[in-house]
Amino acid sequence: MLIDSHAHLDSSRYDDDREQMLQRAAEAGVGAVLSIGIGENPSEMHQALEICREFNGKAGMPRLYASAGIYPHNAAEADDAALAKLDSLLAEPEVIACGEIGLDYYHEGAAHPVQREGLIAQLKIAAPRKRPILIHCRPKDGVTDAWDDLFEVLDEHWASTGLGGVMHCFGGGWEQARRSLDLGFLISLAGNLTYPKAQPLRDVAARVPIYGVLVETDAPWLAPAALRGKRNEPAFVTQTAQTLAELHHLTSEEISLATTKNFARLFNLTV
Ligand code: NI
Repeated sequence: MLIDSHAHLDSSRYDDDREQMLQRAAEAGVGAVLSIGIGENPSEMHQALEICREFNGKAGMPRLYASAGIYPHNAAEADDAALAKLDSLLAEPEVIACGEIGLDYYHEGAAHPVQREGLIAQLKIAAPRKRPILIHCRPKDGVTDAWDDLFEVLDEHWASTGLGGVMHCFGGGWEQARRSLDLGFLISLAGNLTYPKAQPLRDVAARVPIYGVLVETDAPWLAPAALRGKRNEPAFVTQTAQTLAELHHLTSEEISLATTKNFARLFNLTV
């Protein structure tokens, strides 16, 4: 079985066919999906958990897990109430991760110091709840500014927890991959791994040891090359897994097994 380690199942783009979309994932061999709880803003942080509770236990569905977090663009909204909500969500057994959180210097949705403070505040909540973190990191084109700041924050505020996390939709170079692995993070590859121009990313992905990789869709965004521009969904994670398998000269069964094992190890799950 495959695990989609990152999908926004609460997106309104699934409102008309969420159940069928999840059935298609199960039919494609996707056994579990981590549903990302950021919503459009912190007031919607709980929606991923609600979706887990709605569908878990129904026949013919992947197992669903949830996360909760305040996205970098919404960092200015990380006030006491939002952080208290995050803390109570992380206490729920289905909510296995804090995220996606991080730094986005590409879109500049919030000032850099505000993003940094929002990130650190969430690390301080995730640590006592023992929840690994899901990192969104996007530098400006051609530089590593956000990565440099991110590693500075993680070295100071996260490394000592030993909890690790996931570099979601990884787009860094080998140096960033290596530093992530050293911090106990997994490198999660998304559909952009399959894009014709993504050779530099494929070169990095081929160097990441197999014990350090995950696959994800980031659905409804980032559909793999064959479906580019369409709405993405967890069933399509198979295409990214296939590309990753080829890069590592493995079968798709072997990559499924490895990524599932990695996910279970990080989140301490029996899957
Ligand atoms: Ni995402």
